[in-house]
Amino acid sequence: MISCRQATIKDVTFIYQCEVEIFNQKIAIDLIKNDIKYHDNTAYFIAETADEVVGYLSILKSDNHIEIINIYVLKRWRNRGIGHKLFNYMTFYYQKELPLEISLEVREYNNQAIALYKSLGFKTINKRKQYYQDGEDALVMHCLYEE
Ligand SMILES: CC(C)(COP(=O)(O)OP(=O)(O)OC[C@H]1O[C@@H](n2cnc3c(N)ncnc32)[C@H](O)[C@@H]1OP(=O)(O)O)[C@@H](O)C(=O)NCCC(=O)NCCS
Repeated sequence: MISCRQATIKDVTFIYQCEVEIFNQKIAIDLIKNDIKYHDNTAYFIAETADEVVGYLSILKSDNHIEIINIYVLKRWRNRGIGHKLFNYMTFYYQKELPLEISLEVREYNNQAIALYKSLGFKTINKRKQYYQDGEDALVMHCLYEE
């Protein structure tokens, strides 16, 4: 069974390893540590089984606006609804602050992620040309989350 919770300092290595894989470059592990320890405007949510951490979702929040920074599920656990679970847990966590305006940027050809976001109700509202270092465009997606 998969459960979700807020990340703690013990999750930093997992998140760090995923970020290195996603962005294909080394980042400062202290940035993640400091986000979890000190920064109220960032949050990391973890999905786990009884035995292992299997994914996470990170966000940046200001008032009623949430920007999804990243969502990641271990390859062998994909397509089992964990992405949905993480998103639903995050919106449940902020349910007292509804309605929430949620936005994100995603690579134009990241079909798995785009499928997840569409089924969560996101719509493409803009495109940022050559947004990524390799020249791929970014889609800007948006959803208004209310009760
Ligand atoms: C994006 C990601 C987090 C989704 O996690 P997940 O646990 O597999 O998500 P879910 O199982 O909840 O939903 C996946 C959806 O994608 C669909 N899907 C899976 N593979 C697909 C493909 N190749 N093309 C199109 N749709 C696909 C599934 O059918 C499902 O859609 P549905 O809700 O309409 O049934 C996961 O693929 C991942 O970690 N990718 C690498 C990191 C990444 O790209 N993150 C996004 C950064 S913006």
